[in-house]
Order: sequence, then C-alpha cells, then structure tokens
Amino acid sequence: MKYTNIDFNNKTILITGAAGFIGSSLCFYFQENYPKANIIALDCFRNEETFSNGNLKSFGHFKNLLGFKGVVVSGNINDKKLLKELDINYNFDYIFHQAAISDTTVQEQDLMIQTNVNAYEDLLKIAINHGANMIYASSAATYGDSDRFEVGYEQPNNVYGFSKVMMDNISYKYINQGVDISIVGLKYFNVFGPREFYKNKTASMVVQFGHQILKGLTPKLFEGSDKILRDFIYIEDVIQANIKACEPKQSGVYNVGTGKARSFEDIVNILQKELEIDNGKEYIPNPFIGSYQFFTEANIEASKENLNYEPQYSMEEGIKAYLPEIKRLFETEVKKG
Ligand SMILES: NC(=O)c1ccc[n+]([C@@H]2O[C@H](COP(=O)([O-])OP(=O)(O)OC[C@H]3O[C@@H](n4cnc5c(N)ncnc54)[C@H](O)[C@@H]3O)[C@@H](O)[C@H]2O)c1
Repeated sequence: MKYTNIDFNNKTILITGAAGFIGSSLCFYFQENYPKANIIALDCFRNEETFSNGNLKSFGHFKNLLGFKGVVVSGNINDKKLLKELDINYNFDYIFHQAAISDTTVQEQDLMIQTNVNAYEDLLKIAINHGANMIYASSAATYGDSDRFEVGYEQPNNVYGFSKVMMDNISYKYINQGVDISIVGLKYFNVFGPREFYKNKTASMVVQFGHQILKGLTPKLFEGSDKILRDFIYIEDVIQANIKACEPKQSGVYNVGTGKARSFEDIVNILQKELEIDNGKEYIPNPFIGSYQFFTEANIEASKENLNYEPQYSMEEGIKAYLPEIKRLFETEVKKG
C-alpha cells in the first residue's frame, strides 16, 4: 500500500534500529514498494548482555531482516566514529530513527539518556548536514501520569518516557531555529504486529497472550486488567504514519494511535474467540505500579489534520491480520523452545 505520492526509488534511506520490530517493518515496506530505494539498515544487533532488569540490552535480531536485500550495518549509535563514517560515506534523503533502548522498564539512566537522547541529536545533525528529513520514534510513554494525551501535556513516570520527552525537546529546539529539513516525531502508542516476537518479554501482550493460549495455558493478566486501558495500534498504521510524515513542511510531534483505549482483557477475549480456545483467565499482581500507565488514548486530531493520518485497523482487525503470523511463530519458534 502506497501512502504518498513521493517516489522513494533512488532515494537513500537510513533506518536505525533496523533489526528491531518497527525498523525492520520499515525496511520491508520500502523494499517491497520502492525496489530501487537504497536502504541502509543500521542496528547494533543482540548479544547476550542484559540490563539489571534481566532483559537483553538490545533486541535486534537477524531473523527480522531475513529476505532483506539492502545494506546491513552492525553498529552502535553511541559510537561517534561510526556516525562520522555514515556522515561522510552517504548522502541520506530520509532518516527513520527507530534505534533506542525500547524497554520501558530499564533502570540504567546513564545509558538510556546517552542512547535515546544524545545519539538522537548526533543523528539529527547528520540529517541537517545531508538535508535529509528526520522521522523519529517518540512514545506515548512521554505522557506517563498525564490524563491528557496531547502534545504539550507530557508527564513521564520513568526514565524511558523522560528520554523521549528530551528527544521531542531537542526536535523543537531545531525546528524553532528554522532548520532547513523536516523533523517529525511520532509518539507511538502500544504497537503490535509481525516482527515484534524477538522483543521477548517486552513484545506486545497480543503475541504473548496468543502464545500462552496456543500452549493451552491460562493467560495471566495483571489484577484489574479490565480497567487497564491502552491505545493499541497495529504495525501497518505505524508504517502509514511514518510514510505520511515524509511529506514536506510538517515538522512537529504527533500521536500515532487509534484514538480508542481498549483493555488487556479485550485482547485475551478477542484471541480466545478467534483461536477458539478458552482456558479462562488468571490474575497476578502488577509489579510495575508507580511507573505504569493505567490509561492511554491518543488524541489524533493533529495527526489527522497535519499528516493526513487515518488509522485503518481496529484492535479486532489488527489481531485478525496478525493471527497467521502468531501461529507460524508458535510452530517454528515457541514449540521448539
Ligand atoms: N513498539 C512499541 O510499542 C513502541 C511504542 C512507543 C515507542 N516505540 C519506539 O519505537 C522505536 C522502535 O521500537 P521497537 O518496538 O521496534 O523496538 P525494538 O527494540 O524491536 O527496536 C529497537 C532497535 O534498536 C536497536 N538498538 C538499541 N540500541 C541501539 C544502539 N545503541 N545502536 C544501534 N541500535 C540500537 C535494537 O537492537 C533494536 O533492534 C524505539 O525508539 C521505541 O522506543 C515503540
């Protein structure tokens, strides 16, 4: 599906975080729709290192890029030498910046700020130098404890959310200076869909519940889950927002959600219905209280008006579209252990 009249063929496109969920989805979007696009896929890829919360330091996985034909670079965005080489060796037309510590429960503030905030500014300088449009991933986590999900009402309650607010602030600084490029921040809400599986425990609850149900287990929800509501958005709508964000002259920060809050309980109900397996539900205490968002719902008026963004997938439609992949992963990855 083409979301714009822009022709990305023969354009040089840097995608950071390209071995992750959203970055790899963007790589394939361009490969499939614009076969002559010159795509540079940068990611630090995973190794065995973990943060103090026990989760992997990076989730990039080669399997997300199986079938990708562009250039793959393994490198760390905190590496100034690498950034210099990218600056010298390429002339980017677009930068889709998805690389980040994407795990909202990471406690290492030093590395979070360095990776998410400082490296972003370094990449932004390359974009300005090349005259490239910068489209970067911000997050609904910026809203934290806020009850107003509109740019300007951010109230992050963890260092991850804080880091994304700092990215937005940097962007506004450059936009207000009148830089020559378009800078668009996209505050994704809770994204789900193909290629998120390798985020392990940080993947969406859609795939995690899906696999619990397929295993014949009783899905485990946090206590009070019928009242924990989030704006869950299917990956295809996130791609749509990224592509529409390439239109010229629309610098700013925009929400990318459906505009409708749904409960975690809804996810389980839809999956159980579609899979025709009902093992009931089990409720467990929520260990994240204090830094957890109990309600998010994107106000997408500005995104509709300025980006011409229009979400296409309800939660039901997203889950239905995703189910064949959830089943495939279950057979090929989960069952093997
Ligand atoms: N998935 C969501 O629901 C969601 C919601 C809001 C915002 N976001 C943001 O969207 C972006 C993409 O998220 P995702 O869900 O694809 O997560 P992901 O973890 O799958 O992708 C991030 C990628 O960045 C790479 N990376 C991390 N640190 C790096 C470094 N120092 N140098 C180079 N590469 C590095 C990782 O290896 C990983 O492949 C992130 O910026 C994330 O914060 C995601």
